[in-house]
Amino acid sequence: MKASNLFYQSRARRPEVDRAEGIYIWGKNGQRYIDGSSGAMVSNIGHSNPNVLAAMKAQMDSATFAYRLHFENAPAEDLATAIADRTPAGLDKVFFVSGGSEAVESCVKFARQWAVADGQASRWKVISRFPSYHGSTLGALAITGYGPLTNAFAPLFKEMPKIPAPTCYLDRDNLSDHDRGLKYAEMLRDEIIAQGPDTVLAFAMEPVGGASIGALVAPDSYYGRVREICDEFGVLLIMDEVMSGVGRTGTFLASEHWNIRPDLVALSKGFGAGYAPLGAMIADKAMVETVLDSGGFAHGHTYAGNPLACSAGLAVLNEIDRLDLMTNARIMGEILMAGLMDLMARHPFIGDVRGKGLLTAFEMVSDRDTMSPLPKDLNAYERFVEICYERNLITYSRRTRGGVEGDHFLICPPLIATEAQINEILNILDDSLRDFARECALEV
Ligand SMILES: Cc1ncc(COP(=O)(O)O)c(C=O)c1O
Repeated sequence: MKASNLFYQSRARRPEVDRAEGIYIWGKNGQRYIDGSSGAMVSNIGHSNPNVLAAMKAQMDSATFAYRLHFENAPAEDLATAIADRTPAGLDKVFFVSGGSEAVESCVKFARQWAVADGQASRWKVISRFPSYHGSTLGALAITGYGPLTNAFAPLFKEMPKIPAPTCYLDRDNLSDHDRGLKYAEMLRDEIIAQGPDTVLAFAMEPVGGASIGALVAPDSYYGRVREICDEFGVLLIMDEVMSGVGRTGTFLASEHWNIRPDLVALSKGFGAGYAPLGAMIADKAMVETVLDSGGFAHGHTYAGNPLACSAGLAVLNEIDRLDLMTNARIMGEILMAGLMDLMARHPFIGDVRGKGLLTAFEMVSDRDTMSPLPKDLNAYERFVEICYERNLITYSRRTRGGVEGDHFLICPPLIATEAQINEILNILDDSLRDFARECALEV
């Protein structure tokens, strides 16, 4: 491969992309790949959707950029309305950004400014969970629980308190699922009390875990109790729906599954769906009024709410409705989960299958009884992805246990996937699991 002036996280190289359509991406190497993870859970409506491209081209013919301090633009206005129409009552103010980390930073900074404006300046701590992933900028890292991504930077930010993520699948107690959910929720209450309730600003969580923990879903009891605890102490609930939002789990916001009404929501990924860098903070209307009355939100990014990105976002939402993709995510999600369960029944080193809608994952272990992870130096999270890649299936993986060991694999195809395509993915996974077991001499 020729020398490159580009660099990314590592020296790993990949084929150059040629074109992409639907759930497939073609490389210049002549190979066709199934986008089994929608990139990084981004390409929710599939690639090269003609209606989105047409909307963007039409927008390009009028204006691609008009800075928000100089002009308003119709796509931004219409997109904000479209979001407000799809979110719980009261959550109807939208602040645009260009990515997930920016959306999370916006939520944290907005929460703080609101507290100051509301006469609650003693509140600044944002409790979050371990493991978790909320983004790569310093503010988002402060609430992220994933050692390999945070440790080196710790002196640069103010570490925020963490409580354990509800990893019930690792618990070997005699509690019911319901009681386990409550057990983990009470950890939030204990932490708020330990920190001093009048210092705690917010609790930030992914309703369905993402990159750090692979589609972790808490017991139903967890969600309502978390909301109650936040209300009890006047702590804001920030839902990081960067990965789970905009239909991926079968509802517009994943938190809808549990009838949770957050105070602030972060969106990105499937919102721009790979057509344009786009993200948003959705905020409670009354909170926005308070902040604006106090002199304004002291935060913003140059590209925020630009007409081209917003025209893409609007067209993406229209396609999700037109093609009824949230229903498809629910139906295909069930088929995919059943197929993953079947793989688990046949491959003893799969220890857990989990998810919601088309945000699904499985985790490899060396022993299902103890749930101890595979030996670290097998590097299963990297090796298995390569084996799948060699079979032209793209998957997404990370270390599960705080980033240091454990291996989970996110299987999250675009929401347009058909049953035949889901089965194609499952068949490749099956063959790849067999190859992996053989290569690592695992029990089969
Ligand atoms: C839940 C969650 N929050 C925030 C982010 C950060 O988003 P971005 O990479 O667009 O900055 C991610 C990205 O994976 C994410 O999954």
